[in-house]
Amino acid sequence: MRLAVIGTGYLGTTHAACMAQIGHNVLGVDIDPGKVAKLQAGEIPFFEPDLESAVKENLASGRLRFTDSYEEAAEFADVHFLTVGTPQTEWDFCANLSYVNGAIDALSPYLNRPALIVGKSTVPVGTAELLARRARSIAPAGDEIELAWNPEFLREGFAVHDTLHPDRIVVGVDHCHESRSAKTLAELYSPILTNEDIPFLVTSLATAELVKVAANAFLATKISFINAISEVCEAAAADVTILADAIGVDKRIGRLFLDAGLGFGGGCLPKDMRAFITRAGELGLGHVVTFLQMVDNINMRQRSRVVEATREICGTLVGARVAVLGAAFKPNSDDIRDSPALAVAGQIQLQGASVRVFDPKAMDNAQRLFPTLNYALSTLDACRGADVVLILTEWDEFRNMQPEELAAVTRSNRVIDARNCLDPQLWRATGWNYRGFGRP
Ligand code: UDX
Repeated sequence: MRLAVIGTGYLGTTHAACMAQIGHNVLGVDIDPGKVAKLQAGEIPFFEPDLESAVKENLASGRLRFTDSYEEAAEFADVHFLTVGTPQTEWDFCANLSYVNGAIDALSPYLNRPALIVGKSTVPVGTAELLARRARSIAPAGDEIELAWNPEFLREGFAVHDTLHPDRIVVGVDHCHESRSAKTLAELYSPILTNEDIPFLVTSLATAELVKVAANAFLATKISFINAISEVCEAAAADVTILADAIGVDKRIGRLFLDAGLGFGGGCLPKDMRAFITRAGELGLGHVVTFLQMVDNINMRQRSRVVEATREICGTLVGARVAVLGAAFKPNSDDIRDSPALAVAGQIQLQGASVRVFDPKAMDNAQRLFPTLNYALSTLDACRGADVVLILTEWDEFRNMQPEELAAVTRSNRVIDARNCLDPQLWRATGWNYRGFGRP
């Protein structure tokens, strides 16, 4: 099939490459000509494992191309995926829909034959319906324009894998073209669906929009739940990591997303949850989702807990030398959007400490956002002369550090493991003052 993928960020670039991988002819579209030129040359402007090889392979096969022309996209494709961002608005917690609206406005005037527009971006419930009307009113093909909503659940760091091996495919269809849109998308995804036993769920537009938001809200709730429990564990000298294992074996609960620590960040969970709270309020149901405000508060509190633990262990933050290991919002990513690690690093520095940051992949992004922090060349470089070492993102490189090697360069052997990723016994046995999160 001939597909256009509009918006070449994490989601769009991955989707374009993976759709080409399963045999479709794909045109990636972006309004930034510089980005298009880079992608066309096989360069990915961010770090995502396996993505560069997938893009290069499919550029070489001729099944993948990039353009900045909506006219070319309309001419080329029968199915147009919308993968532009829906960031948080500047002054409140709404989703900024200007990019999705802009993409529809730019594409629709060229749609002069039947076409299917498939939204993948995370949007407030009700948006897809409005976009369908908007596209039909602008496009010369009018009512022959179909619109479906097909939320994406991929995790950064596993984007290619999650796109090719999804847990489920959810397709929301509008009542005008219900069976036609579902049939097109079932055919489009058939190379993925035939290999594995993957549920293909056809729903209304509103249900599909809500599935994505509800999934993210649930994941966020799970993390904040275990973080609240971790604080109780800390007060009671219990171990939250063992507790999580013990409750996680219950199939109704499940062990994933029960890792206590510095909490969630990134470009999705925080802003999607906040946009959901706002949308529920608009629907007159703010009181129903007040628990999500608690989820957000608990999450933010984890950052303060780490700042306070650092102050406590150093006596004062003024003049303390702090090594910060991790800047990305999670390992295997260079994404620093709403990164808990950088929030802690910035706060500690503002309170008088001198901070040296190292991250295996996110250094350039971190330096751009927080130019006033000091940046090191390696783990050991960051820790040289430090009074305390903070593990804020659980990269394997930090998990596998040798306590003796680190002890040789630090001023004091004190470590705060804000991701519970080190072995406390091992570190204590080599003379370190180890402090985890909700574990003795
Ligand atoms: C998330 C959803 O998982 C994905 O389905 C959706 O499409 C986009 O949002 P992503 O933002 O890539 O994906 O990251 P994810 O792996 O979900 O982690 C989110 C945050 O939660 C990270 O900051 C991570 O460190 C944190 N986290 C995760 C925890 O603090 N504890 C856990 O147990 C799991």
